[in-house]
Amino acid sequence: MQETNRLYTDLAWLWPLWGGAAAEYADYSEHVIALIRQYSEREVRTLLDIGCGGGKNVYNLKRSFNVTGLDLSPTMLAQAKELNPECTFVHGDMRSFSLNRSFDAVLMDDAIAHMNNRVDFEEAFRAAYAHLNPGGVMVVTPDVTVENFQQNKTTTFSATKDGLDVVFIENVYDSDTSDEQYETTILYLIREQGSLRIETDHWVMGIFTLDTWRQVLHETGFQTHEKQYRLGEDEYTVFVCVKPQ
Ligand SMILES: C[S@@+](CC[C@H](N)C(=O)[O-])C[C@H]1O[C@@H](n2cnc3c(N)ncnc32)[C@H](O)[C@@H]1O
Repeated sequence: MQETNRLYTDLAWLWPLWGGAAAEYADYSEHVIALIRQYSEREVRTLLDIGCGGGKNVYNLKRSFNVTGLDLSPTMLAQAKELNPECTFVHGDMRSFSLNRSFDAVLMDDAIAHMNNRVDFEEAFRAAYAHLNPGGVMVVTPDVTVENFQQNKTTTFSATKDGLDVVFIENVYDSDTSDEQYETTILYLIREQGSLRIETDHWVMGIFTLDTWRQVLHETGFQTHEKQYRLGEDEYTVFVCVKPQ
């Protein structure tokens, strides 16, 4: 049995090095803030970040909104709180949480890729919808869709901090294109004071066509607008989803 989701559990201490520092998420957060301001039909004061992880997006969003973060991993939530002590964080499953309050805006970022079957995918949007005020906006950006998936793509990223050198090698592979899943395999080369340790991780992720995204968001009740976000060579579809008044 391959180990899974270690980046959010026993290897979560590597999270601050994964994908760069919180400031490097600023450009995407600015994009999200601008879309929320453009499409919201209400004043936006509060935002719920679903699957907030270590709180890097929260770090950039909190300058504009009163932010609450939700995540399944207590270890990631602890990091998010350390980075953003002034914000509220709650433990919950994005498919089934119930907070007894709603928000003016919702961000559902890369955590949605962990919804690896149609039932979980639909439940996550229903839960988000239930926590959004009428006229409010949810922004969600698929990392991967059937249309932009690159079979066997391997990316390498290295980072250094306090005597720790880490190389992350990430490979994506879809072994059965007739289902709605693909695999992400990560190899971690961790050198602490020069001593090498090698760890592995394996995630089963969800992959859907853009038409499935459109259909599920529509059936959930959202009115959606499609925008683009460019990061280096890559371009992503951004769904801006308004909850009707
Ligand atoms: C890549 S991280 C998110 C990082 C985040 N965008 C940030 O700004 O730091 C993905 C997160 O999704 C969370 N996650 C996965 N499945 C979840 C679920 N069912 N409910 C809530 N969170 C979940 C993981 O615990 C992980 O922290």
